[in-house]
Amino acid sequence: MKRDEAKERIDVLRREIEMHNHNYYVLNNPVISDFEFDILLNELDTLEKMYPEFITDDSPTRRVGSDLTDEFRQYEHKYPMLSLGNTYSKEELKDFNERVEKVAGGPVEYVCELKFDGASISITYRNKSFFRALTRGDGTTGDDVTRNIKTIRSIPLKITGDNIPGEFIIRGEILMPRPVFNRLNEERLSAGLPPFANPRNAASGTLKLLDPKIVASRNLDCMFYFLLSDEIPYRTHFENLSTAGKWGFRVSEGISICRNIDEVMNFIDKWEDGRKKLDFDIDGVVIKVNSIDLQEKLGYTAKSPRWATAYKYRAEQVSTRLISVSFQVGRTGNITPVANLEPVLLAGTTVKRASLHNADQISLLDLHKNDVVYVEKGGEIIPKIIGVERSQRLEKSDKIIFITNCPECGTPLQRNEGEANHYCPNYLHCPPQLTGRIVHFISRKAMNIEGLGEETVDLLFNKGLIRNYADLYELNVDQLIPLERLGEKSALNIINSIRSSAGVPYPRVLYALGIRHVGETMAKTVAKTFGSVDELMQADSDTLTSVREIGPKIAASIISFFRDEDNIRIIQRLKSYGLKLNREEDSAPATAGGKLTGKTILISGVFKEHTREEYKEIIEKNGGKNATSLSSNTSFLLAGENMGPSKREKAESLGIPLISESDFLKLIHED
Ligand code: IVH
Repeated sequence: MKRDEAKERIDVLRREIEMHNHNYYVLNNPVISDFEFDILLNELDTLEKMYPEFITDDSPTRRVGSDLTDEFRQYEHKYPMLSLGNTYSKEELKDFNERVEKVAGGPVEYVCELKFDGASISITYRNKSFFRALTRGDGTTGDDVTRNIKTIRSIPLKITGDNIPGEFIIRGEILMPRPVFNRLNEERLSAGLPPFANPRNAASGTLKLLDPKIVASRNLDCMFYFLLSDEIPYRTHFENLSTAGKWGFRVSEGISICRNIDEVMNFIDKWEDGRKKLDFDIDGVVIKVNSIDLQEKLGYTAKSPRWATAYKYRAEQVSTRLISVSFQVGRTGNITPVANLEPVLLAGTTVKRASLHNADQISLLDLHKNDVVYVEKGGEIIPKIIGVERSQRLEKSDKIIFITNCPECGTPLQRNEGEANHYCPNYLHCPPQLTGRIVHFISRKAMNIEGLGEETVDLLFNKGLIRNYADLYELNVDQLIPLERLGEKSALNIINSIRSSAGVPYPRVLYALGIRHVGETMAKTVAKTFGSVDELMQADSDTLTSVREIGPKIAASIISFFRDEDNIRIIQRLKSYGLKLNREEDSAPATAGGKLTGKTILISGVFKEHTREEYKEIIEKNGGKNATSLSSNTSFLLAGENMGPSKREKAESLGIPLISESDFLKLIHED
């Protein structure tokens, strides 16, 4: 690779890795597996080694991914919280051993431990009492999550025992046991909330909640693996950790002294299978030099210790046979191909289906019917097909061809230039699009009609009782009672819930209409500029795009929605049922002339009187605008408790005034 090509690739990789770090550490929503991430990081590392002139201090190869948020007070770590080098190869592990033995001048004793897959935490104890808990943050500074961590029952608030230093720091991994995770996801699904993809995301998402009561209800656990102190009791890692176990900290039973690299390899092999019996996830094994003197001699790189490394297990893969590919049609007409597989056990669950994303993915895999395929569970809920075993392909098996017509209504599919997905353009009559729009309309963030779920909507649709969401308002109890599984009481509840949804505020009704590209936030923006649906209907492309947040794609989608006569008829009917289709009818005071008209406000920190969501609504009701980040356009910062110091500094440097919760409430309520 030429020098300038390498520079370009380095830039691309850095941007991509930063994005994945943000997805993983801040949003708790990784979109690629750890293995895929490590490949990117490795490529960057190799290029930086070939072209050291391009190395910068802020390269992801030199920094740990940051989980810092604005919601918590931040403190510096007394000892930096570093990452670990890692490998998927036993050969590289042998190289690690050779490097260590060279410095030691002879054989080295290691401690092998499980590599827990959760969120790391660093807890300071002073005078035998819990003092403060910090997340890893950016490795130098962490978020103060003390109130949340104190709710975890297996973490001692006071400790007893021998040789306890006056101040020490203990580090560990916050975990959500798999049974707890499964239960939590069931609850979330039945409450209409999106499930967490895996226990790690659930654990780190829970750590960053602002309400410790909810944290307490989530039954987190913690495994400790590292003791630090200026007065460390012993000169071996094993003795220190075992002693911490005696003081009351939970230390995993999967910890062993290994006298040489062969014993390390045996430990790795033992847990490759053994991990399946644990009730929490591990993603590998950590190998640490036992002697602290030797640790000190080996020292650290910018990002990780030279005395420890991780051997990571590949995400579990299994092979199975592809039976067929189904094509599902979503609410907006998007087509998603799904592989139907011969059932196979993978990471504790039976897998029958795997996602195939889109047409490009199918041709990339060169998928044929009856192929033996490899399935892997990455960060996502649905496993994915990562490869095909060509050697086992049956002769004359048919290539999987992406469909050309909608499987539900037969309409020829379309694909917009530059987009990966095919979609069915039969907006008006394609059944899953019709029911999908009704399901969206009744969902919690839209009209929030309780008692009606996807199944009941399908039932009503199939019986010909509803064709669109306006039909819901013409339903009566007698029509519902004869439906399967619906008693009189449930029927009555549904009807009441439908009727009372007429009180839902205008922006949410706009969102419920299901206009393509008009999500929850966009609906609020649109509602602020266009005081009624009638006004919105009249708006042409120029008027729409003159609103900063509305681009040509959204404008085109709004225009095409209102060009449709069926939609106009439905909206007229919704009006006649009393739904709020303009701002004036809303119970909120008119925003024009509100106390905060023309003001852009950023909320930060934790509040006593209202939640952050409530403050956002209060701001909007008073004519103000919620900012998403600090900029010179921000009028002021509504500062709660525990606001991060970096935010305060930035506000000061931009000359943006801070206003306290009580002053803000006075401002809103004064005459
Ligand atoms: S020791 C300086 N031991 O893995 C050494 N880390 O990829 C610090 N982890 O940030 C780490 N299990 O969150 C250590 N037994 C274990 C671990 C472990 C999980 C996590 C930890 C660390 C990350 C590095």
